[in-house]
Amino acid sequence: MTTTPAGIASIGLQLPPLFMPVTELAELRSVDPNKYTKGLGCIDIALCPSGDDAATLAVGAAKRALSRWNGSIEDIGLVAVGTESAKDMSRPLSAWVAEELGLSGTVRSYEVKHACYGGTLALRQALEWKWSGAGAGKVALVIASDVALYSPEDPGEPTQGAGAVAMIIGEPTVAHVAPVSFPFSSPAFDFWRPVGDAFPSVDGQLSLDCYKRAVTECFGALIGDRDARSVLAEYQSMCFHVPFPKMVKKAVLHLGEHLGWSAQEAERLYLEKVEDTLEWNRLVGNAYTASLWISVARALVGLEEGTPITAFSYGSGYGAELLHLTAGPAAAAAPWVSDVDEDLRSRKPLDMWGYETLRGHARAS
Ligand code: COA
Repeated sequence: MTTTPAGIASIGLQLPPLFMPVTELAELRSVDPNKYTKGLGCIDIALCPSGDDAATLAVGAAKRALSRWNGSIEDIGLVAVGTESAKDMSRPLSAWVAEELGLSGTVRSYEVKHACYGGTLALRQALEWKWSGAGAGKVALVIASDVALYSPEDPGEPTQGAGAVAMIIGEPTVAHVAPVSFPFSSPAFDFWRPVGDAFPSVDGQLSLDCYKRAVTECFGALIGDRDARSVLAEYQSMCFHVPFPKMVKKAVLHLGEHLGWSAQEAERLYLEKVEDTLEWNRLVGNAYTASLWISVARALVGLEEGTPITAFSYGSGYGAELLHLTAGPAAAAAPWVSDVDEDLRSRKPLDMWGYETLRGHARAS
């Protein structure tokens, strides 16, 4: 297939200005803190103050991605926002972003929904738009942005989080994305939010099972009839959607079991290729569509040009897709690290009373 070369030209991240350690939530809920830290693998929950939402996070991330890119706003021909934190059933979140950025004219602007998979779908559509030539020399702005809140005392409460990752799709300066990817979907009610409900409903165990099945199907398709050990050895890192860090570990161990590996060998794969990619996710919590891309942004840091990584996207409902990326020349210096450093340094901690007050606002709004 002859395609117009395209990939990720710039990345910007935006994390919220508040956070709470999960140990503080454990005290509030009278739960052993080890359940949240060791059992789920979480450290902090990133939280938005009243008034901030997925749109403000998306705008912040987009401005940062644009600030370190050489083009101008007139070069953007597509803006797509993947989210499950929509503000409106009709008006796309991309309209709020476009308004703030002063982006209008010959631009295709829309929102993509498929639970946590929406950001990856937006990215794939933008890449396919470029590869096909339909972009006619323009670039795309793709944003994955979400605020993940569960009802108070829900088992998912310690996995809450928020954040946005914006990517400019043009020259593959940050990363090249392979045109061939490995999707898998199967309808299920593992996690859903009926129209009008403020918080999602989750069948936690089913979502774990669906996620693990999707991992084995997608990696099975990548490996095909080749030797699994040599295929996986090619990748420097393996990134995953991160509902909570322990879920990723469970999925990797399950993949190892499925491949007939010993538990030790699967654990080694996790430690060598996955654990480090979760560093920022542990401090942010689940940012739904943005979670995988936070992990990818972390995994790309310092990579030599041409180094391959995988990115596994999962969205409840459910749909998944495994992507193959290779680091571009900008990965070595990774200027987006300053977004994360700045946001983590400046964010304010909430204690349990502050959290209760904030959740009171969330309930009322
Ligand atoms: N010390 C250490 N570990 C502890 C512990 C303690 N005191 N108490 C419990 N744990 C461990 C459990 O053994 C379990 O680990 P394991 O699964 O490896 O055995 C883990 O902590 C979680 O405990 P569990 O009782 O299963 O938790 P829960 O019923 O409260 O629910 C989730 C946990 C993950 C299912 C819940 O957080 C959830 O529904 N999350 C949302 C899932 C999601 O996001 N899905 C959609 C996208 S994929």
